[in-house]
Amino acid sequence: MITPPPFLTGNQIRHKFLQFYKGKKHQILPSASLIPTDPTVLLTIAGMLPFKPIFLGQELSRFSRVTTSQKCIRTNDIDNVGYTARHHTFFEMLGNFSFGDYFKEQAIKWAWELSTEIFLLPSQNIIVSVFENDDEAFDIWENVIGISKQRIIRMGEKDNFWKAGETGPCGPCSELYYDFYPELGEQNLDLENDSRFIEFYNLVFMEYNRNDNGDLLPLEQKNIDTGMGLERMAQILQKVPNNYETDLIFPIIKSISNIITTDYAEAEEKVKRSLKIIGDHTRAVVHMISDGVVASNTDRGYVLRRLIRRIIRHGRLIGIEGKFINEIAQTAIQTSGEFYPEIKEKAIFINKELEREEDIFLKTLERGEKLLSEIILKLEKSSQISGLDAFTLYDTYGFPLELTQEIAEESQLKVNVNEFYKQMKIQQCRSKAAHETVNLSVQYGVNKLINNIAATKFLGYSDLSSFSVIKKVLVNQKVVPKAEKGDDIKIVLDQSPFYAESGGQVSDHGHLVGQNSFIRINDVQKESGIFIHSGKVEEGCIFADEVVNAVVNNDYRHQVKLNHTSTHLLQAALKKILGDSITQAGSLVTFDRLRFDFQHSCQITPEQIEKVENTINSWISEKHIVKVENMPLKVAKEKGAIAMFGEKYGAEVRVINIPEVSMELCGGTHVENIAEIGLFKIISQSGISSGVKRIEAITGPTVLNHLKERENIVKNLCDHLKTKPEEIQNRITSLQIELKDTQKQLEIIQQELAVIKSDKLLDMAELLDNNLKIIVSNVGNMDTKALQKSAERLQHKIGEGAVVLGSTLPGNKVSLVAAFSKKIYKDKNILAGQFIGEIAQICEGGGGGRPNLAQAGGKNPGKLEEALLTAKNKLIQLLK
Ligand code: ALA
Repeated sequence: MITPPPFLTGNQIRHKFLQFYKGKKHQILPSASLIPTDPTVLLTIAGMLPFKPIFLGQELSRFSRVTTSQKCIRTNDIDNVGYTARHHTFFEMLGNFSFGDYFKEQAIKWAWELSTEIFLLPSQNIIVSVFENDDEAFDIWENVIGISKQRIIRMGEKDNFWKAGETGPCGPCSELYYDFYPELGEQNLDLENDSRFIEFYNLVFMEYNRNDNGDLLPLEQKNIDTGMGLERMAQILQKVPNNYETDLIFPIIKSISNIITTDYAEAEEKVKRSLKIIGDHTRAVVHMISDGVVASNTDRGYVLRRLIRRIIRHGRLIGIEGKFINEIAQTAIQTSGEFYPEIKEKAIFINKELEREEDIFLKTLERGEKLLSEIILKLEKSSQISGLDAFTLYDTYGFPLELTQEIAEESQLKVNVNEFYKQMKIQQCRSKAAHETVNLSVQYGVNKLINNIAATKFLGYSDLSSFSVIKKVLVNQKVVPKAEKGDDIKIVLDQSPFYAESGGQVSDHGHLVGQNSFIRINDVQKESGIFIHSGKVEEGCIFADEVVNAVVNNDYRHQVKLNHTSTHLLQAALKKILGDSITQAGSLVTFDRLRFDFQHSCQITPEQIEKVENTINSWISEKHIVKVENMPLKVAKEKGAIAMFGEKYGAEVRVINIPEVSMELCGGTHVENIAEIGLFKIISQSGISSGVKRIEAITGPTVLNHLKERENIVKNLCDHLKTKPEEIQNRITSLQIELKDTQKQLEIIQQELAVIKSDKLLDMAELLDNNLKIIVSNVGNMDTKALQKSAERLQHKIGEGAVVLGSTLPGNKVSLVAAFSKKIYKDKNILAGQFIGEIAQICEGGGGGRPNLAQAGGKNPGKLEEALLTAKNKLIQLLK
C-alpha cells in the first residue's frame, strides 16, 4: 500500500523548496522582474535567465549556490491554455543553481531527497528521464539512488537537452516525472502521456555554450540549473486534476464563476475552459503590470494587451457583458500578494491600467460589431460570412469566432469555418516567418540592423552636450535615410553625452538639435556598447550622417545624480546600523526617488530607520567629497569596494569613493560633493519577499515638495474633520468606533426590515382551487441571503404551496428565489431548481438548487416583472 503524499498549499511548497536548499548552503535570492535585463527575450522565461551572464562566465557571482522562486511568462503555448491540464502563461519556477560548485551527482541526490523526504512523494511514483547518451546520469539514478533500470528513460535532444535559446548556455538534462498510476507497470512507457505522468523537476547539467555557428563549446565551469514548476507540484500534492484547480489559481476562477453565478464544478466544458483561461491570464497580467509592463502594440506591451483582450473575450463568451476585469484582478492580487507584496503595493496602479485597457477594448469590440452588421447587411440570404471576414474580425477586432457565429446565426447565416482556420494557419506561418527574419523576441531588435557600427563613445561623465554624428536613424524598426516631424525614432550617434539606462539608473532625457530639426529624447538604451536614443521628431527633418547638437536635460540629470549618490549613502548607512551582512539585491534610481532592495532577514524597527536617516543627513552636513577612480577589479576588491551581485564588471572598474563613508563599484553619474544632496528622507520601508527588504527615499528639493504635499493633506483633513492637526488621530479613532456601531445597527435594522417586508407579502398569498397557496412578488432591493430567508419563512407560513420572490441587487443584477412545499416538488414533481432556472433565463441569467429551495441570478432587471408574471402564470397552470 503506497501512502499518498500530504497536502501542501502553494505557499508551503515554495517555502519548503527554498528552505531545503538554504539548508544545503544556497543563498535565497528574490525573484527577478518579469522584465529581463537580457535583451534577447521579451520576458523572463525561466529561473535561470537572471543568471545567464554568470553561466557564460561574463559576470562574477558573489555566491556559488543560489535558490529562487522565479516569476516566469511563456506565451508560445498560449493556445493550449485551458485545453490541457498544465499549460500556463504565468508560472513560478523553483530552482537551485550551482555556479561551478556542485554538479550532476549532488544535484540528483538533492532532487531525490527533496522529492521523497520533504514533499514525501512515494519513490514508486517517481520515474526519471536522462539524455540518450548520458550514461553518467543513468548510472547515478540506478546505482546511487537505486531506481530500477526500467524506470530510467533515455530521451533524445528534443526532450532532454535544455537550452535557453538558439545560442547560449545549455546542457543535457534529467527530468523527474510523477507517475499517477505506478501499478500499470513499465510496459510501453510513454512519458508524454499526460494523463499518467507529469514532469515536475528538470535538472540541467549546464556545461556548454552554443555559439552563433551552432557549435557546442564547453563552458569554463560546470553548472547546475534546475526548474520545478510550482503549479505542477501543487497539482500533485493538492490532488486536483489540473494546475488551474490548485490554490494558486482556483480562487480567481471562483471569483469569475461567482460573477456568472455558475458553479465551476457544474459548468459545461466550454465554460470551464474559459474560466481556466481567465484564471491563468489574470494572474499573468497582474504580475506583468506590477513589474512595469504597459499595454501597447509592440513587444511585451503587446503580450500584455493580448492577454487582457483574451480575458475580456472569454468573459463575453461566458456571458459577462460589462466591465469585470478589476473585480477578478482583486482576487489575483490577494492570492499572489501573499508572497509578492509588491503586487499589493501596486494594486491601484494595476487597477488603473486594466481599466484603461478594458475601456479601449470594449470600444474596439463595439466597432467590430458595427463592421459585422455591415457585412451581414451586404450578404444575401442563405449565403455565409466568408472565413476571411471572420478572420479579420478575429485578428483586428478581437472577435472570437464563436461570437461572430452567434451574431450571424441571429440573421440565419453561417460562417465559413474551414476558411477561417485556413486564414488562421496562414497568419501563424506569417508570424513564424516574421520571427525568423526579425527576431520578435529581441527587445530593441536594432542590433542586427546596425551592423558594423562602432560602440558609442560616452561623454556624459564630464559633458552635458556634444556635437555628434548621426550614424543610423530607425523608424518602425527599419533603418531609414531620414525621419520627419511626428516620427517616433531611434537614433545611434557616434558619441553621446546621454547616460544609457544601466546599473539601476534610468537614462538621461534631453534633445538633439539638427540643421533644421528638434528631436526630443526620452529614453536611451545600450546594446553591445551601442547607445540607442529613442524619441520623437518635434520639428523639421533629420538625416543620417547629419551632425547634431546633443543636449542632456541638466535638471533631470541633477536630480538623478542626487538620488544615485544617496543610494550609495543608504547602503553604507544600512551596513552601519543593521550590520555588514546586508547585501544589495537591486536598486532603481530615477529623477524623483530612489529604491534600494537588500537582503536582511530581521524586521527593521522605526528607530533603526530614523538612525539610518539621521546618519545620512549628518554625512551630508559634513560635506564629504565624491572621488571617481578607475582601478583594476582586484585592487578595488582589496580596498573593500562593494560590488553588486550579478553586475557585469570588466578587468578595469570605476569606483565611487566617498572617503570614510562608502566605496562602491559603479558606472553611474554622481554629485561632486554630497552636500549637494541637501536632505535625505525615507518615504517607505517594506518586505518584498522572504528576507528581502525595500527602502524608498527622496532627496533634495523633492523632500520639500513631499513635505508640502503632506502639509496639504493634514490641512484638508483638519478642515474636513474640523479639528487641529494634533487632534486628528483621536478624532479618527472616535469616528471609526461610531461607524462600526452604526454598521451593526444597520445590519439589525436590515434584517428586521426583511422580516416585515416578507410578512406583508403573506396578505398577497393567492389560494388556488386545490387549497394550494402561491406568493409571487418583487420585493425591491434585498440581498440574496435575505431573499432566500424570506422565501423560506413565507413558504413555512403558508403551508402547502409555492413562493417565488425576486429582487434587484447593486450592479444591475437580479436575484430570484423559489421555495416549494413537499406537495409541489414531491407530489406534483415541480422542482424549484429547474423552475427558477427557466424563469431566470428571462432576465438573461440562470441558476438552480434543491427541489424545495433554489436561487438564480440574472443580468437584466428590466425583465424582472415579466419573469415574475411568467412564474405566476406557470405556477397557476402547473398546480391546477
Ligand atoms: N532551465 C530549465 C527549465 O526551464 C531548468 O526547464
